[in-house]
Amino acid sequence: MTDIIKHYDNGEITVIWQPSLCIHSAKCFAGLPSVFNPRKKPWISMEGVETAQIIEQVQKCPSGALSYKESSGVVGNDENELKEVIIEPTVNGPLIVYGTISIKHEDGAIIQRENKTAFCRCGESSNKPFCDGTHKKINFTSSK
Ligand code: SF4
Ligand code: FES
Repeated sequence: MTDIIKHYDNGEITVIWQPSLCIHSAKCFAGLPSVFNPRKKPWISMEGVETAQIIEQVQKCPSGALSYKESSGVVGNDENELKEVIIEPTVNGPLIVYGTISIKHEDGAIIQRENKTAFCRCGESSNKPFCDGTHKKINFTSSK
C-alpha cells in the first residue's frame, strides 16, 4: 500500500499531510485559512504565520491526516502522549482511535498508525477501513 505523504516546511517545523487519512472535516481551513486553503496551490502555505499557531491547528485535525515534525526531530499531532488507546465514536461521524495502533489489512499487511486514526462506521468510505468524509455526503446518523 503506497500512501501519498506531502511535506510543508517553514524552517522551524515541517507539516506533514496524508491525504488518504483526511476526512474533510474542514477544521484546518476554518481555523487557520491563511495556512490551510484548498483553493490555493499548494493548499498549505507556511508563510507569515507563527509556528505555534500552525502547531495548535495541526493538533486539532481530528483524523491524524495532519501532523508535524520539529527541526529538532520531535514529531507531534497531539499535545499529550497517550499511555492507552482511547476510542471515540463521534456523533454522526467516524470512530476516532487515539494512540499508537497496528492495523492488519485483508492482504495481511500490517501498518502502524500513531496519534489519531479515523475509521469509517457509515460503511460508505472509498478508503476503508479509514473514513474519507463520505458520511457527511450521505447524512449518516449514528443514533439509528
Ligand atoms: S481531516 Fe485534518 S487535514 Fe483533513 S480537512 Fe479535517 S483538519 Fe484538515
Ligand atoms: S464514517 Fe466517514 S466515511 Fe464512513
